[in-house]
Amino acid sequence: MENSQKRFPENFLWGGATAANQLEGAYNQGGKGLSIMDVVPGGKKRLGIIKDPDFDFKIHSDKYTYPNHDGIDFYHTYKEDIALFAEMGFKCYRLSIAWSRIFPQGDEAEPNEEGLKFYDNVFDECLKYGIEPVVTISHYEMPLNLAVKYGGWKNRKLIEFFEKYADTVLERYYKKVKYWMTFNEINSAFFIPLFSQGFVNKDPKAGKQDVYQGLHHQFTASSLAVKKAHELDKNLRVGCMIIYGTSYSYDCNPANQWANLEESRMFNNFCADVQVRGKYPSYINKVFKRENIKLDIKAGDLELIREYPADYIGFSYYMSAVRAADPESMEKTNGNLLSAIKNPFLKASDWGWEIDPTGLKIALNELYDRYQVPLFIVENGLGAHDVLDDKNEINDEYRIQYMRDHIDAMAEAVESGVDLMGYTSWGCIDLVSASTGEMSKRYGFIYVDIDDEGKGTKKRYPKKSFHWYKKVIETNGEEV
Ligand code: BG6
Repeated sequence: MENSQKRFPENFLWGGATAANQLEGAYNQGGKGLSIMDVVPGGKKRLGIIKDPDFDFKIHSDKYTYPNHDGIDFYHTYKEDIALFAEMGFKCYRLSIAWSRIFPQGDEAEPNEEGLKFYDNVFDECLKYGIEPVVTISHYEMPLNLAVKYGGWKNRKLIEFFEKYADTVLERYYKKVKYWMTFNEINSAFFIPLFSQGFVNKDPKAGKQDVYQGLHHQFTASSLAVKKAHELDKNLRVGCMIIYGTSYSYDCNPANQWANLEESRMFNNFCADVQVRGKYPSYINKVFKRENIKLDIKAGDLELIREYPADYIGFSYYMSAVRAADPESMEKTNGNLLSAIKNPFLKASDWGWEIDPTGLKIALNELYDRYQVPLFIVENGLGAHDVLDDKNEINDEYRIQYMRDHIDAMAEAVESGVDLMGYTSWGCIDLVSASTGEMSKRYGFIYVDIDDEGKGTKKRYPKKSFHWYKKVIETNGEEV
């Protein structure tokens, strides 16, 4: 019997994803203020530098380079770049708004009109081609002033500042943008609170208290954004956004199984448990007791979180993780913000991120089983060293293979009944890496001629994967 079942729903949102601070450049143009990412140096050591308690939130051009300052200059080239996305047939484009373009210091009374106008232009350009913008309100970025003067998200005043910013962009763009997400990879706070919460951990104990308090403020602020969006138009969809790293126990030793369950639940599920189920999960009481965490929760916060949960779960998936009760002695591999125990069954990317398409199928099933809300894969992809040959072509067959395997895994999850809204591959045009600040860690379908020192012609070249992805979209994922 012929199987006429389609692999993906008809209105599936195929596209690509980027973040303002990694591609726009123009870090001090158009009235933009400094953001925390503007003071983060480039290079493989950047995560170590910003985790140092003495990190001073200042630019040191004599010592470091700052690739995010120029990005790939999307601020000036967005028309040409969006035209290339349209050529691939993108149904949607996930991008973020730079908070510091709208409120340069974060605490002023009035927004910066020039910043607002820029995103009007970007969204209009997308809509011209029928590309649906999918907007992250805050992607690893806040005005630097909010980190330095107020201490970032651990300060409750941030709820007020974010609410003002979110209300401003929701009111301005709600007729152009239907799909929103509040905080990129909100659970990354457990590893890099500077990126998502705007602070460094001076004392590890105080650090945890601050992270959870900061998360509580973010949960509350996120629900305020859901409330506002639904008041403007009940059809708007506002998602939460988490990193999901499918988690395996090292072996069948019950002690390792238990360690895996506890750690994975905290990392993969805690934020979504609050943001989607609308309440703090019962297991958190034990964690708070053990860590001596005392949350300051004000009247009305829990009601707000309960009444305005996220409409869908956006998540990034790059790799899985292996966990054990006593991981110290085990061989490690690098990963997306975390290093984990090496999995002998998997190959890894040039940066040590283990490639595991089956892990994506598991992620989709686990998330859907637990939450029963639509899912949106808003980041996935392969960071690799691409080489422009003498004909100015890039044969990135390795990327095609990576994505083919992941798309097949998605199709299998959809077949099992998972409600999957779309797929936006990460860094659809080459951009600055978040963890290393390198240009040479490339994810795009479009090569951008800029090197790690920021030198190059900035010219764009479609890679082999560009033509392949166009076909995938054209056939709605039937042909990969
Ligand atoms: C995600 C982030 O963690 O991974 C992106 O949301 C980031 O901002 C992406 O760029 C890939 O990570 P990296 O470090 O390779 O750029």
